[in-house]
Amino acid sequence: MPQLYDRIGAGYKAHRRPDPRIGAAILHALGPAGSVVNVGAGAGSYEPTDRPVVAVEPSPTMIRQRPPGSAPVVQASATALPFRDGAFDAALAVLTVHHWPDRARGLGELQRVARDRAVILTWEPDAARFWLVDDYFPALAALDRPIFDTLDDLRRILGPVEIQPLPIPHDCVDGFLGAHWRRPHAYLDPAVRGAISTFSKIGDVEPGLSRLRSDLADGTWLRRHGHLLERDALDLGYRLVIAQHPLPPGERAG
Ligand SMILES: C[S@@+](CC[C@H](N)C(=O)[O-])C[C@H]1O[C@@H](n2cnc3c(N)ncnc32)[C@H](O)[C@@H]1O
Repeated sequence: MPQLYDRIGAGYKAHRRPDPRIGAAILHALGPAGSVVNVGAGAGSYEPTDRPVVAVEPSPTMIRQRPPGSAPVVQASATALPFRDGAFDAALAVLTVHHWPDRARGLGELQRVARDRAVILTWEPDAARFWLVDDYFPALAALDRPIFDTLDDLRRILGPVEIQPLPIPHDCVDGFLGAHWRRPHAYLDPAVRGAISTFSKIGDVEPGLSRLRSDLADGTWLRRHGHLLERDALDLGYRLVIAQHPLPPGERAG
């Protein structure tokens, strides 16, 4: 199956470095889990180095960017994990579930292979406003909303979950869509946009870009959003979802 990340993933590692604060929150969510499968692992961001980890990633372009010495990787899809039931203590999925062709099935697979917990970093649609989307690229929301599960969807699929808001630090080094909320000029850089998958799906970015360029130049952005410059972190809807004691097979969603 051709993968989006085979096309857009080439420069991923330069702009999608693991952010240490997000890394600490993920490690905390994994708790004492002794072994971890990292599904949709990409170049290996946020993989713990203090316990056995197996990575799962379908895209050869992403697999090639894994640093030497990183966890062993299996080329596979989340929707058919090649592991026995309960093979790992924990399953981890960071900003990947929205790419899966059958999200409920992939989430079921996380629960099947994890004995203790599944930890998912995702984005909650409509939880928070973001100036980039509202003022300049509303097409981003139209593309993202249908592919990100709501928390109710996740509860329906995973059963009871713990939800932890993940405020994004103003100097976040992992360049996902919301990372540059306090550095608006960053979005003018094609390499920054190239590391954000949803941008690759918008046909023509030029109208939004030229509005942003001109609002930054004439002070309009500062007038509207200057209050953000005083914030150290912002809730943009990113969430850590922790499903503990995954459901036994008979109680899982289809
Ligand atoms: C935004 S990247 C996140 C990568 C990594 N988890 C990180 O945080 O840097 C999304 C990843 O999901 C992977 N992906 C896409 N479809 C997938 C599938 N069906 N199963 C597992 N991973 C998939 C992509 O190839 C890509 O590496």
